[in-house]
Parts: sequence; C-alpha cells; structure tokens
Amino acid sequence: MTVYAIIGGTGLTQLEGLEIRHSLSVSTPYGAPSADVQVGYFAGREVLFLARHGHPHRFAPHKVNYRANLWALKQAGAQAILAVNAVGGIHPVMGTGHFCVPEQIIDYTSGREHTYFAEDLEHVTHIDFSYPYSETLRAQLIAALAAEGCEYSPFGVYGATQGPRLESVAEINRMERDGCDIVGMTGMPEAALARELDLAYACLALVVNPAAGKSTSVITMAEIEQALHNGMGKVKATLSRVLAQG
Ligand code: HPA
Repeated sequence: MTVYAIIGGTGLTQLEGLEIRHSLSVSTPYGAPSADVQVGYFAGREVLFLARHGHPHRFAPHKVNYRANLWALKQAGAQAILAVNAVGGIHPVMGTGHFCVPEQIIDYTSGREHTYFAEDLEHVTHIDFSYPYSETLRAQLIAALAAEGCEYSPFGVYGATQGPRLESVAEINRMERDGCDIVGMTGMPEAALARELDLAYACLALVVNPAAGKSTSVITMAEIEQALHNGMGKVKATLSRVLAQG
C-alpha cells in the first residue's frame, strides 16, 4: 500500500482526527524540518503528517526549510505527498472557498534553497518537470472533492511568489497575463524537491482571498483566517476520502 504524507499549510498545523502513534524527530543533511513528522492513523489508515510552517506556526513561507521537510518525509517512508496550500484567487472562478487542484506551476520565488543537486556537481540531475504534479494523486483529490460536494476546479496554474508580503495589483495582473489562476507562497520549491526525490506529489489549494486587485477591498488577515476556518472541514473530509480510497 502506498504510504501517504500530508503537508499541512497555514490553517492546518495539526490534523484533527489524526490518531498520533509516534513523532519522528528526523535530522537531515539540510538541517531541521519545520516540525517532527507525525505518524498516525487517519481515515483508518497509516499516514505521515508534517506542518509546513511548524507547529505552532513559526516559519514564514520564504523561511521554510523545504529541502529538510521533503527529505524527512522520504526518510520516514513517504511515497506520495498531498500538499495543502492556502492561496489567493486570480481567475474569476477562483472565489473564496473554492478549491483548485492545479496541474501546472509558474515559479516566481527567488533565493530559496530549491534543489538537492547543488553541491555534488558530478551528479547534477535535470529532472523532468513538464507536468509538476502526479496525475494519479490529482485524480484522487478531484474525485474526493466531487464526492464531498465541494466547489472546485480540476485544473489551474499555481503562481508561486516569494512573500511574505502579498502582491501588488500590477504583479497579479502580470501573473494573470502569464496564465496563473491562483497565487501562493509555498508551492515552490516544494513540488520540484518532491520530484527530485521521486515522490508523487499533488496540491490541494483552498482559495482564502481574491488576489490583489480582484476585489474592491484590500486583503486582510482577518478575511484570510475566516476563510481558512470555514474551509478546513472540507479539506479534512477530502483528505480523509483520498486516504480511505487511495
Ligand atoms: N497571495 C499569495 N499568497 C497567498 C495569498 C495571496 O493573495 N492568499 C493566501 N496565500
């Protein structure tokens, strides 16, 4: 059976309903992961869980040690990663509360440790990243969202920005012209590192605000927190369904 790991983003620093059996403090050649890897049962199945920003939430998106996080999950036995990400909506259909299972990524981040092939130049590997996400995992997420009656898009382009500030209206307009449908700060380099480690990876994105300039008001943390609070029940139900059936 495939060993699944869930990477919880903002609003999901712990997985309610996860019966934790033990926690693994994994040391990696890249430093410490954001938190211990929790090993437990969710939806009647063994699963690994890691809080991307730490538990409690400690690391801003540009400070997350993505290399250590993915390495720790691989070390703990993960084969397939379900990443949960809060995002801003760019495409008109991506309103607050909408889910998106993106099929493509554009990376606008900079200065992050983004590869395992940095030091040992004799073994540089140029991974294929034409299709950044696992189609199998995407299909599982899409089927679960449909079964849960969620509003969702089974496609979309995730634009990954550096943060921690939100974007300007002109930046979002440029991203829209580039073809981005949603914007978030944590989608990269996570997806590419998973591919470098040969881990299947897909993203369950929850829209928590209209991106800059996509509504008549400015973006507030209160609005984002409310949307996270409202959407987390559906996130957990969707993940639970994937695990029960996957
Ligand atoms: N921009 C970038 N990241 C985000 C946003 C946003 O509007 N909302 C949640 N994460």
